[in-house]
Amino acid sequence: MFKLAPSILAADFNHLGEQIEQIESAGADYLHIDVMDGMFVPSISFGMPLITSIRKNTSMVFDVHLMVKEPIRYIDDFCKAGADIITVHTEACTHLHSTIRAIKEKGKRAGVSLNPGTSLDAIRYILPEVDLVLIMTVNPGFGGQAFIPFCYQKIAETKQMIVESGSKAELEVDGGITLDNAEAVLKAGAQVLVSGSSVFNGTIEKNINAFREVFSHAAQ
Ligand code: DX5
Ligand code: ZN
Repeated sequence: MFKLAPSILAADFNHLGEQIEQIESAGADYLHIDVMDGMFVPSISFGMPLITSIRKNTSMVFDVHLMVKEPIRYIDDFCKAGADIITVHTEACTHLHSTIRAIKEKGKRAGVSLNPGTSLDAIRYILPEVDLVLIMTVNPGFGGQAFIPFCYQKIAETKQMIVESGSKAELEVDGGITLDNAEAVLKAGAQVLVSGSSVFNGTIEKNINAFREVFSHAAQ
């Protein structure tokens, strides 16, 4: 079963609550929440208060993507705010293993993410400990960028590495996912697709249904 994780980075923040309701009733699987610190990535997005606030109105799985330096400093805070999955970047952690442990100790699902230029070797030994691997297919920091084509091969190699290691980690892909490339990304091995612009530009429900159609086609 493929999953869709709409990224609220592309939402209209004047209508965030309503848009999350639309995402939930259209049957999206995860709510992808992009936290940017202005240090690990150039941009600043939002943090714990926003997550605490939207947590009150939805039971969706909160898939929190921390684009934050040394995220171990904030694991407790994001758990308290209502995260279900916390994904950290290997490039941002001096002690990746301790960071993953800190997430698991809180009873949350732990994810590890790689920037496009980072080698898969960076996650080889941590794979058995994580619940999710997030392959970035743009350089993180902004929504609406174009998918980097060499990432198809990287997705396929990640899938192979997960299978060979016996890890149960889900493979999520993030950045520049559109209705035009979604099927190829799934065929390369992705199980969860993050999408910002392609979900929020236009009609949310229509866009999510269109992704669902691609999912059923790719599953055949
Ligand atoms: C990029 C973020 C992505 C982004 C996806 O730094 O991690 O989740 O919001 O947006 P689109 O789908 O527009 O590339
Ligand atoms: Zn993201």
